[in-house]
Amino acid sequence: MKIAVAGTGYVGLVAGVCFAEMGHQVVCVDIDEKKVEVMKSGVSPIYEEGLQDLMRKNYAAGRIDYTTDYASAYKDADAVFLGVGTPELPDGSADLSYIATAARQVAENVEKDSLVVVKSTVPVGTNDKVDQFIQDFLVHDVHVEVASNPEFLAQGSAVYDTLHAERVIIGTETAWAEDRLKAIYEPFNLPIVSVNRRSAEMIKYASNDFLALKISYMNDIANLCELVGADIQDVAEGMSYDERIGSKFLNAGIGFGGSCFPKDTKALDYLADQNGYELQTVKAAIGVNTKQKTALFRKASNRLITFSGLKVAVLGLTFKPGTDDLREAPSLDNVPLLLSKGADIYAYDPVGADNFAKLYPEGPNDRGSITYVNDVEEALKDANVCFIFTEWGEVKAIQPEQFNELMRTPLVFDGRNIHPIEEMENSGVEYHSIGRKT
Ligand code: UGA
Repeated sequence: MKIAVAGTGYVGLVAGVCFAEMGHQVVCVDIDEKKVEVMKSGVSPIYEEGLQDLMRKNYAAGRIDYTTDYASAYKDADAVFLGVGTPELPDGSADLSYIATAARQVAENVEKDSLVVVKSTVPVGTNDKVDQFIQDFLVHDVHVEVASNPEFLAQGSAVYDTLHAERVIIGTETAWAEDRLKAIYEPFNLPIVSVNRRSAEMIKYASNDFLALKISYMNDIANLCELVGADIQDVAEGMSYDERIGSKFLNAGIGFGGSCFPKDTKALDYLADQNGYELQTVKAAIGVNTKQKTALFRKASNRLITFSGLKVAVLGLTFKPGTDDLREAPSLDNVPLLLSKGADIYAYDPVGADNFAKLYPEGPNDRGSITYVNDVEEALKDANVCFIFTEWGEVKAIQPEQFNELMRTPLVFDGRNIHPIEEMENSGVEYHSIGRKT
């Protein structure tokens, strides 16, 4: 089938590339000329394992192309997937202006029967509005319907998650739309759950917010563990054997970040509010997470008189490993606090440092300073204190004795519970983590 994809962010680009890989004829639309040229040259604008290889392979095979010319892309598409951003507005609601623009461009240019598929995460009821909007702006006498098909990929494993999804959610209102969307997914050979549009939209939020809740619950319990002498990792392991609980997303730490959980918890809370309902569980998850992001800093502040004049190693800046994305990363809460307390930060991140340097350029900043280094050893060398914000492989691989050998004073605050406490202590490291003995 001929598929057009609007937006080449994580959702749009990965979907487009995977549709091409499955044999469809794909054209990805973006407003950014430069980005389109970069993609045409075989370079992925985002860091995502396996994506660039698939881009090159499918471009060479003539199955995918990139353009800013939306009119010709939408004109004869059997389906147009909308994967544009829905950023959070100051009041917590989702900004739907990009969706509206793309929908209108489709309506004004489509010249054959087509299915518009909303992949972006949108508030419940948005698909209905997009459908009406398209009917209002349709120029040609063609049949266009809207379907919801939320995305469940996680950054860092986006291609794998798309090609091996545990389920594909299809939200449609007619058999025509359902059949067309099923046909598009047929070559993927994945379990399909077919529901109505509003349920599909809700499945996305309910799933993300459930996972966010799970993490916040573990962080809450972790904080209590510290007070009563229990160990959150042992507690999580004990819980995980119960299949009703499961073993995933039980890791306590420095709070969830990224472009999804923080935004989607606030958006659902807002939606409930708008409907006169108080979503107490999700509110609690948001509250716990906000506090959790600076829990490590508070611990360190209690332990040290000052950060002024101290060399502070910061390991990891991105919100999780496998991505260069900094959105809502705990580092963004902690680095300014450390700088305001006079810390001289030596930061290491294998792929996120350049993005971070755009926000915090190297050199003096506030009452401290920030320097970006190329490896963990350089960050740790002669450091007085070390903070771990992201569990990158090279950070996990640091041996306890290395902290002792490299640092001036081996004092480590680990926001990801990476290292075994006893090994750290036996190596002479003063080690503080989350929800475990300190
Ligand atoms: C999340 C969901 O996992 C995807 O299913 C969903 O499709 C995506 O949002 C989205 O809506 O687009 P993502 O934000 O890429 O994916 O990353 P996750 O791996 O879910 O991690 C989110 C945050 O939770 C990270 O900051 C991570 O460090 C934190 N986390 C995760 C924990 O603190 N503990 C855990 O046990 C797991």
